[in-house]
Amino acid sequence: MRTLLVLAMVGLLAALIGERYMALRLRACASRELKPKRLPNCHLIKGIENGAEDVEILPNGLAFISTGLRYPGLKSFAPDKRGELLLMDLNEENPRPIELRISRGFDLASLNPHGISVYIDKDDTVYLFVVSHPQYKSVVEIFKFVEDDNSLVHLKTITHELLPSVNDIVALSPDSFYAANDHYFSQQILKLLQAFLGLNWSNVVYYSPNEVKEVAGGFYFTAGIGISPDGKHVYVSDSLGNSVHVFEKHANFSLSPLKTLQLDSVIDNISVDPYTEDIWIGGHPNGMKLVFYDPNNPPGSEVIRIQNILSEKPTVTQVYIDDGSVLQGSSCATVYDGNLFIGTVFHRLLHCKLDPSSGKGQSNQN
Ligand SMILES: *[C@@H]1O[C@H](CO)[C@@H](O)[C@H](O)[C@H]1NC(C)=O
Ligand SMILES: *[C@@H]1O[C@H](CO)[C@@H](O)[C@H](O)[C@H]1NC(C)=O
Ligand SMILES: *[C@@H]1O[C@H](CO)[C@@H](O)[C@H](O)[C@H]1NC(C)=O
Repeated sequence: MRTLLVLAMVGLLAALIGERYMALRLRACASRELKPKRLPNCHLIKGIENGAEDVEILPNGLAFISTGLRYPGLKSFAPDKRGELLLMDLNEENPRPIELRISRGFDLASLNPHGISVYIDKDDTVYLFVVSHPQYKSVVEIFKFVEDDNSLVHLKTITHELLPSVNDIVALSPDSFYAANDHYFSQQILKLLQAFLGLNWSNVVYYSPNEVKEVAGGFYFTAGIGISPDGKHVYVSDSLGNSVHVFEKHANFSLSPLKTLQLDSVIDNISVDPYTEDIWIGGHPNGMKLVFYDPNNPPGSEVIRIQNILSEKPTVTQVYIDDGSVLQGSSCATVYDGNLFIGTVFHRLLHCKLDPSSGKGQSNQN
């Protein structure tokens, strides 16, 4: 009983001070002036009003989108609506998202999708990996995509004590992946405690049926993980550390740190252009506004591109910035064949045609 009481007190204290602490950390990046930097040729995708936390695009132009994330402390415009996985065909003139059907037997009500990742097998089978938070727990759902009828067949649900608070994943095979834990703990109270104490205990874990191990650590809040097209390097974004970390991936799936790039934003997810190898990041120019949502003063959006990250002098470009009047709380930026898709934690999905002459993110496949 006494332990419980102490825990409760610690929790309460942590909640109070943790919020203060988060506020301080987030404010470090909050004071920047927001001069909107818009792109021409952008429009909001119809039918997405409840977040597009993550967007994954297949080489053939089919895009998977996760929507409807409910996460403690973050805004949701439809808190009672279950999450969905959407499909959009970018080969169409005006792509429209449709909901993917999920095979019978899967508990749809439990779906609370966060990061997603795709693995394409040698025989072109497409596996969709989805981080989900049923009752705010942390699981990884693995599906097989059936293109004939736009459906997903549920294969398995993965939970593990080393996967306490997964935010994002990179699929490595039909049943293995790297997972970024944004917290070391699974309990809400202990997560707040971690934030309060400013512990850099967030990590990256390698998961396979035979082996599960921590492969990197020392982050404040890992929100995104991506892999280079050749599979040799892994990129991790630390939102509260405002940094991107580059790792070398070994045959045994261990990672060794190569370099760290310090940025000026609360960065969220990472995506890698398979052709140019540029890194695209969705970020929160004002993290405070994301956490303390005010419809009259909403959080903005930002897209950052990093070119030649392995070189001595990587080029960091702020491609897009908005004060929230168009797009609120951008969480990811993904490019496909001269198109940029900017997803958000709980708002909408913006589609921009990139100007080929400026070389902005256009793929060099032609
Ligand atoms: C971030 O992007 C990667 C690569 O595009 C994807 O695998 C992942 O699921 C995304 N995660 C989140 C949290 O948006
Ligand atoms: C984590 O924080 C501790 C204490 O502040 C520090 O000594 C350590 O170097 C940090 N680890 C990383 C990987 O930044
Ligand atoms: C994994 O491989 C790397 C590079 O070959 C090596 O340095 C490291 O010790 C290996 N780690 C384990 C756990 O075997």
